[in-house]
Amino acid sequence: MHKRKKLSVIGAGFVGSTCAHWAAEKELGDVVLLDVNEGSAKGKALDLFESSPIEGFDSKVLGTNNYKDTAGSDVVIVTAGLPRKPGMSRDDLLAKNAGIVKAVCQGIKEYSPNAIVIIVSNPLDAMALVAKEVLGFPRERVIGMAGVLDSARFRSFIAEETGVSVKDIQAFVLGGHGDTMVPMPRHCSVGGIPLTEFLAKEKIDALVDRTRKGGAEIVSLLQTGSAYYAPSASAVQMAEAILKDQHRILPCAAYLEGEYGYDGIFVGVLCRLGGKGLESVVELKLNNEEKSGLENSVKHVKELVTALRNLEY
Ligand code: LAC
Repeated sequence: MHKRKKLSVIGAGFVGSTCAHWAAEKELGDVVLLDVNEGSAKGKALDLFESSPIEGFDSKVLGTNNYKDTAGSDVVIVTAGLPRKPGMSRDDLLAKNAGIVKAVCQGIKEYSPNAIVIIVSNPLDAMALVAKEVLGFPRERVIGMAGVLDSARFRSFIAEETGVSVKDIQAFVLGGHGDTMVPMPRHCSVGGIPLTEFLAKEKIDALVDRTRKGGAEIVSLLQTGSAYYAPSASAVQMAEAILKDQHRILPCAAYLEGEYGYDGIFVGVLCRLGGKGLESVVELKLNNEEKSGLENSVKHVKELVTALRNLEY
């Protein structure tokens, strides 16, 4: 008999519960939603399960505060941690979220030693490193979500500006998940045609700038937290690529082992995702501007890692 896949989502806040929603609706497998707040996890999971007869999905959804219930997960999405408030940068979350991500990863390691883990908590590139160190998994099985989100924002803005369907917009973003991210307009296309043939440079620059600040734009509108629809959809697209062994090329934060000349840090690059997790990093030839953009972004991630090393968590 074919066994269902199992996907656990850690953190039942807005991002986590919306991950559970997308994943269940897509029938990626049975979904476990875990939170330290037991009532919140159980209530949201039960509520989501009760929508299944209407929406017609067969995924089971279980809420819990006990890692035992996540045992044997194929994929775990980690969303636990505090979100940003207006005026905060993602980096301001470093100390608090490092402790939370560490505790979460201890639970994952104990009960799902073979899982592929997708990190969503911020500051993303540093939290992915904490996770990798605590889990002790190879880089194939610890991947950070940021590039899919940043690229989705870029693609949305391009679609709006060109008046073309989002389905026909290809674009990606490299680098860390922060203001130093490196959108790659040279590799954007609209229906297969280079973006540079559709829009003037000033227009593209404005979209790039809005993309860089895309997370903050939502935070300043919401006032009480940060984005969750697009972040959760992004994490679930990565989970789907893995659970369905799709071999998709998606921009993700990967632990670099020499690519682009960097070693031992997580940073956003193009990744091929499939059943084994990170199947390969697709390394591009960068021009000088892109190279220095990436260098600047890596420098920022390294500063964050240095700050992390000086913390007790
Ligand atoms: C954002 C947060 C989730 O970019 O980092 O919206």
